[in-house]
Amino acid sequence: MPSVSDILQTMDYGPAPEATGEVTAWLKARGSFGHFIDGAFTKPGQSFTTSNPATGEALAKVAQGSAEDIAAAVKSARAAQPGWAKLPGHERAKWLYAIARHIQKRERFLSVLETLDNGKPIRETRDIDIPLVARHFYHHAGWAEMLADEFPGAAPVGVCGQIIPWNFPLLMLAWKIAPALAAGNTVVLKPAEYTPLTALAFAEICAEIGLPKGVVNIVTGDGETGAALVAAEVDKIAFTGSTEVGRAIRKVTAGTGKKLTLELGGKSPFVVFADADLDGAVEGVVDAIWFNQGQVCCAGSRILVQEAVADDFTKRLKKRLKTLRVGDPLDKSTDVGAIVDPVQLTRIRDLVSQGEAEGAVLHQSDALLPPTGCYFAPGFFTNVAPANVVSEVEIFGPVATVTSFRTPDEAVELANNTRYGLAASIWSENINLALDIAGKVKAGVVWVNATNIFDAAAGFGGYRESGFGREGGREGMREYLSEPLVKAKPEARAEKPDAAPIPGAPSKGAAPIDRTAKLYIGGAQKRPDSGYSYAVMAKGREIGLAGLGSRKDIRNAVEAAHAAKGWGGATGHNRAQVLYYLAENLSAREAEFAATLKAAGSPNPAAEVATAIRRAFYYAAQADKFDGAVHSTKSAHVTLAMPEPFGVMGIACPNDAPLLGFLSLVLPAIAMGNRVVAVPSQSMPLAATDLYQVFDTSDLPGGVINIVTGPRDELAKTLAQHDDVAAMWYCGSPEGAKMVEAESAGNLKVTWTLANRDWIGPDGQGRAFLTRATQVKNIWIPYGE
Ligand code: NAI
Repeated sequence: MPSVSDILQTMDYGPAPEATGEVTAWLKARGSFGHFIDGAFTKPGQSFTTSNPATGEALAKVAQGSAEDIAAAVKSARAAQPGWAKLPGHERAKWLYAIARHIQKRERFLSVLETLDNGKPIRETRDIDIPLVARHFYHHAGWAEMLADEFPGAAPVGVCGQIIPWNFPLLMLAWKIAPALAAGNTVVLKPAEYTPLTALAFAEICAEIGLPKGVVNIVTGDGETGAALVAAEVDKIAFTGSTEVGRAIRKVTAGTGKKLTLELGGKSPFVVFADADLDGAVEGVVDAIWFNQGQVCCAGSRILVQEAVADDFTKRLKKRLKTLRVGDPLDKSTDVGAIVDPVQLTRIRDLVSQGEAEGAVLHQSDALLPPTGCYFAPGFFTNVAPANVVSEVEIFGPVATVTSFRTPDEAVELANNTRYGLAASIWSENINLALDIAGKVKAGVVWVNATNIFDAAAGFGGYRESGFGREGGREGMREYLSEPLVKAKPEARAEKPDAAPIPGAPSKGAAPIDRTAKLYIGGAQKRPDSGYSYAVMAKGREIGLAGLGSRKDIRNAVEAAHAAKGWGGATGHNRAQVLYYLAENLSAREAEFAATLKAAGSPNPAAEVATAIRRAFYYAAQADKFDGAVHSTKSAHVTLAMPEPFGVMGIACPNDAPLLGFLSLVLPAIAMGNRVVAVPSQSMPLAATDLYQVFDTSDLPGGVINIVTGPRDELAKTLAQHDDVAAMWYCGSPEGAKMVEAESAGNLKVTWTLANRDWIGPDGQGRAFLTRATQVKNIWIPYGE
């Protein structure tokens, strides 16, 4: 028998398994599950088996949802929605509160069920997943209560289709359902095929508390069921999963008017500076990449360590790796459980082998893995070349890469050297350094001296190819509300819709016309690359020539816009000064602009110019006032929600209101620190091109506003496809809007296709424009012990 001192030496634990009796009895009693539609479970038809990945044992049979099942669920949700939305916020709050209470009462049951179906350690489901699920429903009960006060004029979106992955099954359900219901929407949710069981237990809770039928519908099935939901008559799709499927959904929903949020993959940097608390950072790695077997979209999978401490850090990491307990997820002392499914295990194995074949060195835990079940020993790679597959591709398993860097600038460069932008973790005892990096890293969530912490009060979501939209807190609520309706105004038909080329680069006096206009790129007037211009007509008469911009000009303009990156770093006050100055210079030429607009046939030239001047004042005022929030999240943290500019935006302007339509879109974008490439009114670009002198005399740095005239939709297409354009606004035809949304799927840029409107009226300006011109970064900072 070992002595106490032997035991202390080895620290070997006896098994501490969590009891499963209640859950297995529940599964046995049901055997197979139908869908939860219109407040009741359907008879299971065609079904598939969901298994425990830790043992391979079958757990239950679950229905494979067909397009008809989806249609029935959507119909029920549609019927329930007006009544649900009409309830006073307080009534909806009580329902959400009841859900939260019932989840809390079943915390242990749900934790065990989740662990059985997913393979994640009971310690995680019990201490993280399920408590956060309850927290989300409590938090959103609060939003339901306060909706009318906090979002005046906003309305629910309607029926929401929600598709979730298998890595945090019930938590992702909560992230999706809680805000949707709080805002007055009804939902059809499809859980992932590997992990449908907690969603079905949740459906039982809805039935048990007597939630009005049709408010929550759960349809189980695989990707085909998901695709049917995307295609169904829903008003919004909220998706979490792979970037590949997210991209496909972006394309399919283009032009349908369905609101869309995408939470996709990541390859998040975990940056350790030489002055970091190294042991703290090592524990951070445990939570970053070995938590949930690394199957975490925001996993810190690229560990970047400052050269001076890289060897030391790697040594400590190897030591810590040895102490990880890998095995039975139901054991309370297990750190790393089972991979969700054999398919995912194969994917991880293949990627890891490929990484090794390409020269990376794998350091793996030597823990004895259980003989059956989906296990993968956690570890990390060193000697990883930047082009190695494991440097770029999301492994979605418990393996990180470790590489070194020398300077903070290099750290930022490496951190941002990815298509993704979901999260980042920064380790340093120097607050100035940590916050400097937090500002520079392109990620929707940044943790300082922490990692993988979540709370219902903070927004979560990505930049770049990690998707768009936020879940959680005020930012997340916005995604389930529609803005107050804008009265759309059909555009007057362009007099010269084809922008037919006229040979010869525009140059003064080349033709018997009033004037010619060039493009405006990098703060200078540029001839179009095509060497052609097109005639600008008004009232059947040619009043000038404008440059016929092309793909090449757009590329040059995007490059110039990137070069003007200092604008994003300027203070709000500095930007305001430029906008005020612009207003002043525009005002000095008020009569001249009014004359141009009059010649162009504008119905209200004087009002258009006067409103444009006021608009510049308004966005100058907002430049240092449209700010973020400090979210109340976990103890010992403050969470700063910072609205950040996208960087380079493309803007395709309406044909109508050639001056005011242009400025109404460009001004809010640059007020927030973006640089823009704008395509002005195609039929009447001269009001925008006349602004060049105004810009030149207003201290506007070159490259902040770039103007390419020509065929709007063709140029908008190039902008939508451009990988270095982060966001795109399009105000034009429905066909053009569809094209922009579909073409933007390449780099998953954020798009806003907005209706033409009365630009002089109140719909022409406001906070909605600024919200659309920014993306929120949530930065978690230690605050207190
Ligand atoms: P997936 O993206 O295929 O699955 C996520 C959800 O989307 C599931 O509910 C699935 O049934 C559904 N789905 C699949 N195809 C669909 C379609 N065409 N239309 C609508 N819904 C569809 O992810 P999968 O195959 O399970 O995992 C593949 C890889 O994706 C993982 O290795 C990982 O890299 C990544 N992933 C990322 C997640 C994240 O949280 N960001 C979550 C799950 C996977």
